[in-house]
Amino acid sequence: MQVITSKKQSQTLVRDWQKQGFTVGFVPTMGHLHKGHLSLLEEARRHADKVIVSIYVNPTQFSADEDFDTYPRTTEQDINSLTASEYCDAVYLPDEMYAAGHATMVMPDGVASGFEADSRPHFFTGVATIVLKLFQHVPADITVFGQKDFQQLQVIRQMVSDLDLDIQVLDSPTIRAEDGLALSSRNSYLTPQERELAPLLFQTLTHIRTAITAGAPVSQQLQQAQEQLISEGFSACDYLAYCDRQTLSPLGMYQPDSILLVAAQLGSVRLIDNLPVE
Ligand code: PAF
Repeated sequence: MQVITSKKQSQTLVRDWQKQGFTVGFVPTMGHLHKGHLSLLEEARRHADKVIVSIYVNPTQFSADEDFDTYPRTTEQDINSLTASEYCDAVYLPDEMYAAGHATMVMPDGVASGFEADSRPHFFTGVATIVLKLFQHVPADITVFGQKDFQQLQVIRQMVSDLDLDIQVLDSPTIRAEDGLALSSRNSYLTPQERELAPLLFQTLTHIRTAITAGAPVSQQLQQAQEQLISEGFSACDYLAYCDRQTLSPLGMYQPDSILLVAAQLGSVRLIDNLPVE
């Protein structure tokens, strides 16, 4: 596995592969890799001959009061797990992303409004900007994003379509612990007690899905579930919503191709999850 650090090296490597007739898959990450990330690599390899991963903790998607400084940076361990994985051909650790004087940001609207954006107004501007820059550095044929961050996935799809970017966006299912908790780098912040309570989020989504597909009123289900999360020990529920899967418009009654989205605060950790409703 090659380890590269400059934009030039990355572009040259990807273009050389393509000249040799290989297709290239790209998985952007912020590191602290877990099985969820490795499943994205596996999906990339299913659709491309070569796979490149980036690791970069992007400052513009964190607000001043968020965890940018303490976000887990485990590059050596990440390189070891990528080397051990049979799906990774190169890892890109950008040495420079925002040059002095950087002043251009991508401001997505549409599916980027509401939900995460209500709690983290800076977030999708930071994500869209860095992902667009990464696509310039890694001019791959396909890219894979996790369904775990569903709104982010839809924002990237919208940006690729709106800005005519020459890359195909694929997605890959959320990987969960045995008790249902969606894997996330930030799960490492949970205390043992919080970790025990955390699977309630997924259980709640599963319960609501069963109820609304059986005809229960959506708003009542969402309201009761939020109250239950708080009474069980979550400190806040930022949103619990039932939406159209493509547009993310809220739905008042069951519809196929829909999704439940949730973000809730457990101690110092903000957990997000979702569950497709067929
Ligand atoms: O999902 C993530 O890890 C990040 O938001 C991403 C897409 C790598 C951009 O920094």
